[in-house]
Amino acid sequence: MAPATPFYAIQMTSVSIERMPSKIIINANGSIRVEGEFEITDADGQAFGLGGRTAIGLCRCGSSENKPFCDGSHRKVGFQSVCPARDLPPPVPKP
Ligand code: FES
Repeated sequence: MAPATPFYAIQMTSVSIERMPSKIIINANGSIRVEGEFEITDADGQAFGLGGRTAIGLCRCGSSENKPFCDGSHRKVGFQSVCPARDLPPPVPKP
């Protein structure tokens, strides 16, 4: 089965994470794990109730039935994406 088309970049535009410090881990072939002190809101700024969690997985494969959270579906669809850490170029100044 072909891996699901990743759509997480689109989803991230409607989810914001606030209140540092936090750590974001891009798991190999899986979720984006967020740990620490954070808040996740929808596009209207309404906070998701996280039940006191201090760590959670966000779906980046596009297959979760509980978006934006990971439900483990990435394993069923064979999602493959490994993102080694790297340095990005400086941001391009906006005109
Ligand atoms: S990353 Fe999509 S279900 Fe886990």
